[in-house]
Amino acid sequence: MSPQSSESNVDVTQRGALNTRVASSRVAGFYKWSREERAEWLKRSFDLTDEELIGLGALIDERVEPSSAAHYLNFERADKMVENCIGTLSLPVGLGLNFIVNGRDYVIPMAVEEPSVIAAVSHVARIVRETGGFSASSDKGVMIAQIQVVGCDHLERAAEAVRAATEDLCALADNIHPNLKRRGGGARGVEARVINDPHPMLIVHLLIDCVDAMGANAVNTIAEGLAPTIESLTGGKVYLRILSNLSDRRLARAQFKVPESLLVLRAGDAIQMEGSRVAEGIVYAYQFADVDPYRAATHNKGIMNGVDAVVIATGNDWRSVEAGAHAYAARDGQYRSLTRFWREDGYLHGAIEIPMAVATVGGSTQVHPTIKVLRKILNIESAQELAQVCAAVGLAQNLGALKALATEGIQRGHMSLHARSVALSVGAEGDEVDQVAAALIEQNQVKHDLALGILEQLRRHLAK
Ligand code: MEV
Repeated sequence: MSPQSSESNVDVTQRGALNTRVASSRVAGFYKWSREERAEWLKRSFDLTDEELIGLGALIDERVEPSSAAHYLNFERADKMVENCIGTLSLPVGLGLNFIVNGRDYVIPMAVEEPSVIAAVSHVARIVRETGGFSASSDKGVMIAQIQVVGCDHLERAAEAVRAATEDLCALADNIHPNLKRRGGGARGVEARVINDPHPMLIVHLLIDCVDAMGANAVNTIAEGLAPTIESLTGGKVYLRILSNLSDRRLARAQFKVPESLLVLRAGDAIQMEGSRVAEGIVYAYQFADVDPYRAATHNKGIMNGVDAVVIATGNDWRSVEAGAHAYAARDGQYRSLTRFWREDGYLHGAIEIPMAVATVGGSTQVHPTIKVLRKILNIESAQELAQVCAAVGLAQNLGALKALATEGIQRGHMSLHARSVALSVGAEGDEVDQVAAALIEQNQVKHDLALGILEQLRRHLAK
């Protein structure tokens, strides 16, 4: 459609809503509109400028050579990934440095908007590196397909019938998705669980090794394909057929040990806190999180600061990893820490175990051009290896947070990065950013109004 026809399209569908501050959210056929039509609608409905639309990716910047944007997620690609697309949203990508995992060096791309996350993991990885780095392991890529059956006359007998048909069900599953088997994966087993309350139902689990794929599509296809057979085996009615995000057959583990002396806190040459006291504080912090869900939520959020940043940078489904992590943290009925810390023979030890349904093939891992580049930097060969790296980063992030929390607190470390963000948010540019940030830190107050005042003063001073 030409921009000309876009005009008429917009007018017809949005008569009365355009040129007002609040556009109606009922936009018939939005998904059929061209990029230009969507941009035009956004412009008129929300009073957006061309610059703003270019920033969003809704409009093409004529001044930029299209070829120079080859590595970005451009509108055409994004439009094929989601519905009603109007543009893209960038995130900063930084490198987690100093990491050694299982004896191998990794430079780890991390996509995250929060200051300090990348600095914290790199700082910790630098310490852990002194004793050889993290050791890590991970399970094969086994996901769980869940099939919910209700209305069975005898639940235990239905469960037995399903278990007895394991071989046939696995063969059928491999038939439904032969690709997985070809890649070395496929059905690995069947489980049947009886639930009585609040309604009697049988839950069938099919365990499927998805190898290097996350496997959501394959697992869902298999679950749907098996449903008729499950109904005839059990005499019940199948309702839900979907993967479980509690991927507890796909766990990743990482651990480290460092001499407590390396944890010493210094201020210049002076020792502020001995390493043994720092280690003690870290273990107390872990114990706090392990028994108190209020603290555990924050503790685990910190872990996910690191994990998600790698999961996002590698094009993986971070909502799935988040859901799995938090469900796993509550597996014994109480929500707890995903990590453990303990002291032994002058060393601080730390370990993490976390479900990690990440992939190196399929989904957006192959669609997003930037992610392809980041994957080249990370240079991992399999989903299991990626899972190990993610676990190590999560553990590093947690140690970094606990070390700061148990000693000087996190605000000091955050302050300079936070000050820079505040400076940027009030419009500081170029050298002004550092100058405003430095003035905020000097006054020990990182506040928006203050930053604005400093920036105005700076500009007045320069204008003289
Ligand atoms: C902030 O994003 C994360 C922390 O709150 C984590 C923690 O408290 O352990 C610092």
